[in-house]
Amino acid sequence: MSYDLIIANGTVATAADTFTCDVGIRDGLIAALGHNLGAANRTIDASAKLVLPGGIDSHVHISQPSGEGIVMADDFASGTLSAAFGGNTTVMPFCMQERGVPLRQTLQEYHARAEGRCFTDVSFHLVISEPTEQVLGQDLPALIEDGYTSFKVFMTYEGLALDDYEMLQVMSVARETGALVMVHAENYDAIRFLTDRLERGGSIAPKFHGTSRPIPVEREATHRAISLAELIDVPVMIVHVSNREAMEEIARARSRGLKVYGETCPQYLVLTEKDMDGLNMEGAKYVCSPPPRDHASQIACWEGLRNGVFQTFSSDHCPFRYDDPAGKLNPKGRTSFRWVPNGIPGVETRLPILFSEGVGKGRISLNEFVALSATNHAKMYGLTSKGSIAVGMDADIAIWDPEREVTITQALLHHGSDYTPYEGIAVRGWPVTTIVRGRVVVSDGVLETQPGAGQHTARSRSAFARPAA
Ligand code: URP
Ligand code: ZN
Ligand code: ZN
Repeated sequence: MSYDLIIANGTVATAADTFTCDVGIRDGLIAALGHNLGAANRTIDASAKLVLPGGIDSHVHISQPSGEGIVMADDFASGTLSAAFGGNTTVMPFCMQERGVPLRQTLQEYHARAEGRCFTDVSFHLVISEPTEQVLGQDLPALIEDGYTSFKVFMTYEGLALDDYEMLQVMSVARETGALVMVHAENYDAIRFLTDRLERGGSIAPKFHGTSRPIPVEREATHRAISLAELIDVPVMIVHVSNREAMEEIARARSRGLKVYGETCPQYLVLTEKDMDGLNMEGAKYVCSPPPRDHASQIACWEGLRNGVFQTFSSDHCPFRYDDPAGKLNPKGRTSFRWVPNGIPGVETRLPILFSEGVGKGRISLNEFVALSATNHAKMYGLTSKGSIAVGMDADIAIWDPEREVTITQALLHHGSDYTPYEGIAVRGWPVTTIVRGRVVVSDGVLETQPGAGQHTARSRSAFARPAA
């Protein structure tokens, strides 16, 4: 029996094991693991390389409407191209509910934007910002049934924030349907109060973005989200956690037996609030929410990756251009940090940073890297055919050169932003070849396919969620 592709002589690592074997791929699936597999249409020699499950980035924003006059820097072509060059084979963007528009219609619009343009697979989460009777009673349960088995809710941002009553309503739908709720945990009123006070005092530079969203803002909302989930008896995933106090809320809940999960991101490992204190508006390049904190918070987040507070490590790729009136330097005389669009690019740099700073510096093992970058995302969000290297799974694979030394710089990257917040960071270990369902998308750093190689993947229920009530 011959194969479409054999990856030969590599060191294969999964979340559980590391072993030397060849990988035989047929019809987009992993068909065999072993030695002397026989003939193939193509063989890739992976000597001295690591053969890992392709990265799954379960938190990215692509082609998302971002407010008046603001344009997100990535469409599905550039966003997934950048993802593929960063060793990812699946990304999970958000379909953001728009006020007054049927949820399914908005979802169809996102699908239309993605169709035929993707280099990696994609799978949408929903965002629920207006939980009407129609949404709660009809649209959301039907979409969950159709394989959109997770949705995000915001506790902050004008036009997006749900109040506690609404949080309980959407959590009840998740309880009934077995969906997973992702929570952006920051206290909206506290941020509004602090922002108004800072502006009145003339404190408007980008660095005050951090001052307007201090740790208690995140800790309190994390605690409240967990308490609300406990009332409904539903699992929750607290996304983009930035600091120890929020982590302690998660850990305490888990020690009481609650199904509370956590995600952190590269910005909380390698950036700090000082980065927002650049000359003129340069600090805007680092404005995201929650904001990067301090060195102690970085250490805490590393601990959380090691000790299981965090199941997933995502980029929260939310790309805007810097030197652009439709981006970070938005016009209309809006000079306050209040108007800087929140979010930074990072889908291409997520894995090299985790590999180099984590595996390379002995903070996490290679198997933990695989779990945090791929396997746990697949289990958390019901991507049952993805996230591992095993016979019968999708042949989603990234081949890494663990010795390649790279200095991250904008010129190297493929996203639509005109900067990277990780400029100048030196890493060792880089994904050189990316294979999506058996198709070689990037081969030794060279693009090999047209857009359209990636497709949308409907999902099962989360392995971490409760079964539908
Ligand atoms: O600043 C951020 N994180 N922007 C992206 C939107 C979100 O809250 O995830
Ligand atoms: Zn968020
Ligand atoms: Zn996000």
